[in-house]
Amino acid sequence: MNELDTLIEKFKKDIDGSDTLDFLKELQKKYLGKDGELSRSLSSLKDFSADQKVKLGKKINDLKKEISEELEIKEAQIKNKVREVKEKNEWLDISIPGNKPKVGNLHPITITKRKIEEIFTGMGFSVVEGPLVETEYYNFDALNIPKDHPARDMWDTFWLKNGMLLRTHTSPVQIRYMKENKAPLRIIAPGKVFRHEATDACHEFDFNQVEGLMIGKDISVANFKGIIEEFLSKFFGKDVKVRLRPSFFPFTEPSFEIDMFCINCGGKGCSTCQKTGWIELMGAGMVHPKVLKEGGIDPKIYQGFAFGVGIDRLALMRYKINDIRYFNSGDLKFLKQF
Ligand code: FA5
Repeated sequence: MNELDTLIEKFKKDIDGSDTLDFLKELQKKYLGKDGELSRSLSSLKDFSADQKVKLGKKINDLKKEISEELEIKEAQIKNKVREVKEKNEWLDISIPGNKPKVGNLHPITITKRKIEEIFTGMGFSVVEGPLVETEYYNFDALNIPKDHPARDMWDTFWLKNGMLLRTHTSPVQIRYMKENKAPLRIIAPGKVFRHEATDACHEFDFNQVEGLMIGKDISVANFKGIIEEFLSKFFGKDVKVRLRPSFFPFTEPSFEIDMFCINCGGKGCSTCQKTGWIELMGAGMVHPKVLKEGGIDPKIYQGFAFGVGIDRLALMRYKINDIRYFNSGDLKFLKQF
């Protein structure tokens, strides 16, 4: 009996000092296992009298029950503690608002380009594209600008080592489209163009144009004026003042330049309009017969107009921006406003 009392004392000390599940397993083996303390006590019962056997047997079974219960309680306590520590360390507050992903916005030139496309497609024009890297033939020769012709100076060019060039205007798309399609035609061709020239508030060396081309049997300057006025009033949402000036382009005859009253300064004169009160928006004219022929169209049957408008200049006017260089600046303070 005394030995059993000592045994339970020892167990209590052991279990008090245990703080891991592994150690509990060891205790289980030590006291309740096949070769454990209680099994050994049970096997020594044979040396006692029947009366003593009953008493000791009962005591051993009570101890077994007590030890099992204590082990279970301790196991639950340790598991709870482990969970609490884990919860504390890995706690996550799912009610905290998340970090809002940053949403970008369209570039003002893209918005302007899409608006132009929307208006022209509404008037029956198709939107087509041409390559930015062009051949000399499409950019100049096919547009009636022979080599060494002084008109080439109007489009100072970035030449590539392989003899090709960065297109200086969107007009080569006229020829490409005429060669592939039969008249009558009605297209616009927006895209980037590049010129080897100095920049200022209304000139970039890397800017955007939209080419327009309308060919039919009886298309006249009056049709051009009507279409362009319709386009500009839809684009600016009000009647705008424009003027046509006689001009020269080798690929149109007659040729003209279209200027718009400077919305930025109300005609008083500012850096955007170079103090003139007018801003040059586009070049235009009736397509030269030589260009029609080059595009595979018979000039005796068909005629039409073409124009090339600066998208950046339209955006300057639409948003009342006083310097074209903001568009390529990458300045987020500027770009986030659109
Ligand atoms: C041309 O590029 C002709 N291809 C336009 C044309 C097409 C005429 C079809 C006749 C028939 P011009 O060089 O003027 O023309 O340029 C046309 C427009 O592009 C200008 O009116 C202007 O709005 C814009 N532009 C020209 N140079 C620049 C520049 N450096 N920066 C920003 N916009 C420019």
